[in-house]
Amino acid sequence: MRVLVVGSGGREHALAWRLRQSPQLTDLWVAGGNAGTAQVATNLSVNPEDVDAVVTAAQAHRIDLVVVGPEVPLANGLVDKLAAAGIPAFGPTRAAAQIEASKGFARSIMQEAGVPGPDYHVFHDQQSALDFVRKNSSPVVVKADGLAAGKGVAMCHNPEEASVAVKSCMNDRLFGNAGETIVIEEMLSGPEVSVFAFCDGEQVSTPIAACDYKRIGDGDQGPNTGGMGSFTPPNFWTESLAKEIVDRVMRPTAEVMASRGTPYQGILYAGVMLTEDGPRVLEFNCRFGDPETQVILPLLRSDPIAVMLACAQGRLDKVPVEWRDQAHVGVVMTSGGYPEAYETDFEIHGLALEQENTQVFHAGTRLLTDGGVSRVATSGGRVLTVTGWGDSLDDARARAYRRVESISFEGAYYRKDIGTPRSVPEGEVWSPGQAAQTS
Ligand code: AMP
Ligand code: GLY
Repeated sequence: MRVLVVGSGGREHALAWRLRQSPQLTDLWVAGGNAGTAQVATNLSVNPEDVDAVVTAAQAHRIDLVVVGPEVPLANGLVDKLAAAGIPAFGPTRAAAQIEASKGFARSIMQEAGVPGPDYHVFHDQQSALDFVRKNSSPVVVKADGLAAGKGVAMCHNPEEASVAVKSCMNDRLFGNAGETIVIEEMLSGPEVSVFAFCDGEQVSTPIAACDYKRIGDGDQGPNTGGMGSFTPPNFWTESLAKEIVDRVMRPTAEVMASRGTPYQGILYAGVMLTEDGPRVLEFNCRFGDPETQVILPLLRSDPIAVMLACAQGRLDKVPVEWRDQAHVGVVMTSGGYPEAYETDFEIHGLALEQENTQVFHAGTRLLTDGGVSRVATSGGRVLTVTGWGDSLDDARARAYRRVESISFEGAYYRKDIGTPRSVPEGEVWSPGQAAQTS
């Protein structure tokens, strides 16, 4: 199998690394890529968001399966164009990717499927949105409807904050066209978990769960980032919770997508909050999470090519998806100053010092060649995800941090608290047992 991965981040390095281990693989390319993907595949200088260029590259290299990492090419119809060219791809079509690309669309699917979520209202004009928030004193979350690189969500504790958020979307167009329509939701609270299941348009696999960290600072302080680390399994994750989420979220969603004529094929990612009233879906994404992928893909026991092809061909019933039972912790190392301005092109030292039960996934890195000598240097905000694994989260965390401490570059920053169990306030969080008692 000749496989092409699309994307340039830590998620795509993890995809390429896991695909490289498949017994079916003959050749592997990455559209985009970084210095890490270059170690396991051939990087092509193709912009992952340039859908036509990716299709041309896939044809030129006679690709048998394209694996799409990020949401933008999916929302722009990459999978549809590959299908028209006769090339199977892992990922949803443009219509099915609306589950991430339009929050209003996602909420309407959820409503039809009976998937529990916050109360919400969709607004297409500013005046109605402002009238709504001024009359509503409870905390709300204001969201740009479209793709905004994870930045289009404002937590508003009073009508004044909500009015500012509405205006920045609809009047100041802070998120461009993505904020022409907005969704205003009830603000919920509880621990969050990212849940992933493979889907083939009809069937849904056994899910896997991980937690990520969005804030830059220890203890979840400071501005939001693309993700500072992740761990699996979440300390509150149980088999009955997994079953509950498949039965109440994943399967009904897949059924409604299929009944609307836009079957969902690929990885379905539900961002779930465990509230005192039960699990509530905050969002769906149409792709793997970053940095969750760097801790969950090492757990995929099944052949990744077989699973991904089965998703693309509607044959998931023939290919069991099995996950190993092991703890993984992924620590993101960033350039100093991220998520604000930062410098790049600093050499990264210590990458070759391998340690047992660890793997370094590259994100913003590139090879600098000088006088015939190549060195790996920083080229982005999030530079590496360092993953460690073991029998317990403590073991996995200790290994990840030991490896982190052996890697250095000027200005390197990382959080020190990744993989410490999430606090779950007693009595406040729903558990499957509680649901059984009350229903
Ligand atoms: P989203 O992009 O919709 O997942 O939102 C990003 C983050 O905002 C989530 O991970 C939550 O931490 C928070 N969030 C989104 N929606 C809500 C909500 N209805 N209530 C509370 N927090 C939310
Ligand atoms: N880890 C959050 C995301 O990938 O959207």
